[in-house]
Formats: sequence, C-alpha cells, structure tokens
Amino acid sequence: MCGIVGYVGGGNVYDILIGGLHRLEYRGYDSAGVALESPSGKLSVYKTLGKVSNLEAFCKDKDTDASVGIAHTRWATHGEPSDCNAHPHYSEDGNIAIVHNGTIENYKIIKDALTQHGCTFKSETDTEVLAQLIEYVRVTNNCSLVDAVREALKEVIGAYAIAVIEKDHPDTIVAARQSSPLVVGIGDGEYFLASDATPFVEFTDKVVYVDDGQIAVITRGEPLRLLDLDNKESNVDVKKLKMSISQLEKGGYPHFMLKEIFEQPETLRDCIRGRVVEGGKRVILNGVFDNQEKFLKAERIILVACGTSWHASLIGKYLLQDMCRIPVEVEYASEFRYSNPVIIDRDIVIAVSQSGETADTLAAIKIAKKMGAFVYGISNVVGSSIPRETDSGTYIHVGPEIGVASTKAFTGQVMVLTLLAVCIGQLRGHLNAEQVQKLGEAILKIPAYVKETLKLDKTIERLSLIYTYAHNFLYLGRGYSYPVALEGALKLKEISYIHAEGYPAAEMKHGPIALIDSEMPSVIIAPKDHLYDKIVSNVQQVKARGGSIIAIVSDGDETISGIADHVLKVPDVPECLTPIITSIPLQLLSYHIAINKGKDVDMPRNLAKSVTVE
Ligand code: G6P
Repeated sequence: MCGIVGYVGGGNVYDILIGGLHRLEYRGYDSAGVALESPSGKLSVYKTLGKVSNLEAFCKDKDTDASVGIAHTRWATHGEPSDCNAHPHYSEDGNIAIVHNGTIENYKIIKDALTQHGCTFKSETDTEVLAQLIEYVRVTNNCSLVDAVREALKEVIGAYAIAVIEKDHPDTIVAARQSSPLVVGIGDGEYFLASDATPFVEFTDKVVYVDDGQIAVITRGEPLRLLDLDNKESNVDVKKLKMSISQLEKGGYPHFMLKEIFEQPETLRDCIRGRVVEGGKRVILNGVFDNQEKFLKAERIILVACGTSWHASLIGKYLLQDMCRIPVEVEYASEFRYSNPVIIDRDIVIAVSQSGETADTLAAIKIAKKMGAFVYGISNVVGSSIPRETDSGTYIHVGPEIGVASTKAFTGQVMVLTLLAVCIGQLRGHLNAEQVQKLGEAILKIPAYVKETLKLDKTIERLSLIYTYAHNFLYLGRGYSYPVALEGALKLKEISYIHAEGYPAAEMKHGPIALIDSEMPSVIIAPKDHLYDKIVSNVQQVKARGGSIIAIVSDGDETISGIADHVLKVPDVPECLTPIITSIPLQLLSYHIAINKGKDVDMPRNLAKSVTVE
C-alpha cells in the first residue's frame, strides 16, 4: 500500500502534494513526507511520523518553495513507523530522493552488495536500498537518472511504484511501475503523478495509466515518455477520467464512513442502472453476454478475494449455486495463490476487489490465467490493475470509497454478484423468464429498501451506548446471513478494536457457546428466510445461557422479537437479497460503537484500504 504523489508545473508544488497526500491517506498513515526541489535545483526532504497533518505542522516554518516535488504517505512494511523510516528516502550523497509503494523482495542482497561498496544506510527500509542502488548505478555508469533507474530496476525483484527526483534537475520526475498502481495526470503545462487519480481530479481529467514494466519520464514542457527497461519507447494512451471532486468530499457528514453508509441507496441505484431493464424483465451484464460461450461451458466457478470482498464473494457462492446450479468455490486470494490450485480451462475465476489493486488477488488472477481459466473481475476503481488484467468483468460503480472500512463497496459487490447470478442463471436456462422478472423487480426496489433501513440510524445510535464497552461480540447467521455475520464482526473489529467473531449460527454449539454469558452480546442476523425456524432455536440457545441478543429481523417478525433483548426490523425482501439489507444495521452499529469509543473510524490503526503488498 502507501500512497505516492508527484507534481511538476507552475502550481504551488507543496500545496498540491499535501492535498494529494490527504486524498491518499486511505492507503496508509504511519508517516508522511515530501521531497521538494527549488527552481535553482536545491533538494529538501521533510518527513515525520504520523498522519499528513503532522507533516503539515512540521513544515510550517520550512522553506517549501519548489518547482517539482514528490510525496508519500506510508503503511509500514520494512521497518517500524518512525521519522527515519518515513519516505522520501535519499541517496547518501543527497543527490536523489525517492518515494516508493511496494516491497523490494531482494533488498537484503542488494543492501549487502552496496555495503561492500562502502554505502551506509540510515533506515531499515527496502526503499532506501533502492535509492542508493539508483545513485550507485548513476555515478558508476556516469549516466542520466532515467538510465540509472532503468538499469537499477533490472536488479530488483518485487513490487514497486516509484517516483524519483534529482538535485539540479528541477523539471523532471522519473517514475516506474511493477505490480503497484501508478497514474499520470496531464494538465495544462503541468504533470501530476499518483497512486490513483484522486489527488489531481480537480486539476485535470486526462490520465495515463502506467503499465507494469514501464518507466514514465515526466519533464516540464516536454511530452510524457513511456519506456520499458530495455529503453523501448511505447505509445502514450491518454484516457478521460470520470470522477468528480464532490465524490471525494464528506458532503456534510462527520466521517467518510457515515457518508458512504448513507450513500448506499444512490450507489446501489448506480450499480443497477442499465443492467436491470424493461422493468425487471431482463438482467444484462455485457461482460457475461460478450463471453456467453465461456459461461455456458463453465463447469465450476472459483471466487478469489480478500477481506470484505471475500465476504461478498461468500454471498456470491450462495447466489451462484442457487441461481445457476454450478459448483462454486470461494478462496482467500492469499491462500489460493500458494495452494497449488487445480484449474482447468472450463473454470471461471472471478476476482472481487474494491480497489482493483490488492496484491494477493492480482497474483491469484495471474495464476488462474496462466492455467487456462477464464478470469472475470468485479472491481470499483475504473482503470485499476484487476480490470486490466482480467478477461472481462463488471464495475460496481459505487464511486470512490474513502473510509477504510468498506461499506458501500460491499453492498455494490453483493449487488453485482446478484446480477451476475441472475444473468448466468438465465443464460444457462436455470431461471425461467418469470423467475428472472420476479428477481429483476425485487432488485429494482432494493435502493428504496436500503433507504428505509437507514432510518434505523438513531435507534442504533442509542443501542450502541449499551454495548460500547463490551470486550467481545459474537455475530451469528445461517445461509445467506452467515457471510453477513462475518462482515458485521469484521466491521466492528476494524474500527472499534473490539474482538468480534462471526460464526455460522448452528456451529455455535460446537464451541463458541462456551463463551456465552451475560458479558458476551450476540448479534443474530435472522431475516425471514427458509432457515428462520432453525435460527430461532439458536437464538433460544443463547438466551438460555444468559447472553444478551441484538437481533436483525424482517418487518412483521414476532417469534425472535419476543426473545431477543433488542430487535432491529428491516424490510422483508426475497432471501437472496437479504444480505444487502441486513448488513446496513451492522455497518451503523460498528460506526456508532467506534464513535462512542472516540476512535478514528475513517483511518483505523494499522489498516490501509488498498493492500498492495503480500
Ligand atoms: C483491505 C481493506 C478492506 C478490503 C481488503 C480487500 O484490508 O481494508 O476493506 O476488503 O483490503 O481489498 P479489495 O480492494 O481487494 O477489495
């Protein structure tokens, strides 16, 4: 993870870099730093532990006049979060400064070799090694910075998006990418560079996505150049960015997370738009219809994902099995990639990822493709690596998600998986026209039902006060509600730091039931579905042991409402659509508990939104 920004042009370099870092803070916030080069070629590096606001305070009395600069917000991998390990790193002679997102796997070997040549190191990072290597090559070969970066990167194994500037060259940034995202923004007489387009969305809509193995040479007043490591130049493909500044602001909400929770009626509408047509009669996903043969012949679907996206994928399994009658497996991408997987060419691998950049998911895709599977991507970030690596796919179109704890992207993913299941189901003849229409009509009503569910906010806020100081939580559900329980528990852990476990409700009696006492609240997800009567027994088992129960039930529920301590009633929807509805009160519950505890919900400790390292 980590976020990098670069700028060359006539604007206020420091302000642009700081603004960009704020936008990229979702990628990590252990430390932040800038390297600024004055018009006369003087290179200064300022960096400090903590968030970007700390860096701003640190720079208050510093000279920040510059014509080019690079900046970084860090999620620590090599070396603890500290001033010294913060980026930018620079060569021992102070000639070059570098920011880096990724990990250099063979940094130790390179460090040892450079040490033998007399280099000394200040930090514990792999990035400083790269800085010293580039400078060593530059001095030894007496070559330009671009050539030094090219030659140095040939020695490097690992993932990187880097930006490098050099003393006495106040017009140029050299950047490169391998497995970590990098986008160049082309403005009027200025260039931007960042891990994603959010830092420069208000300045330009012209973007170039740098590919793996490419070096971008960005020089004021000259056209952008893209080279490979063998110095072969390639065409610059300028794309138009579809993102607005208002999508990146809080819009009156105190936190991005709350804004994103409340945006869900709208984001789900965007997600469905143009895909459920003729009043619900037909569900169309171009990614499926353009590849009908693959979906007709498929013998198995494997979903790969991480974190919240893995929970959405687990719901996808239930959906695809129910509607398409096809075997489905769900794998953690990080396990799949090292599991020696058995893949055949009639497998469809579906990668689910909000950011489209998760390193493990990307690696899983590459393996699946190599082994002959057809790979389909479900992502949010347009132009990110996963949509570019996959054979086909669908965007969830929920707009930028800034809060580190995923909310609207989760419901968007579940919605796209629902559309996918209906689409494949109708294609393979497992759903008839009447069934499709019924589902289509129900899907079209979901945004309104989500809006209705959000009215529970004030009730949940009051309820959260009772449970703010609980040390543990159990989240229970069955069938479609089991992954919802996992996701509810994850949300609570992520932002309130309360230990929470999601469990299939029926499995509770094989262990977790031993934990239940008056100190252990259980959140039970029990909408009206075909397992309702079964979960009633589980609710009674918790009650009989003195546990307190918060139940999420459907409107009209009586049985569980008569047993549970607290009941949150949500609109009654068809079983396959319950996860989108029942996850809303769980998002709100975790949000309010974390706020009561005074936690930073948008930037929870140790986490980052985009995990571009293994
Ligand atoms: C991180 C984020 C989670 C996310 C997971 C997978 O852990 O904090 O919110 O679910 O990565 O990310 P992806 O972008 O692939 O969905």
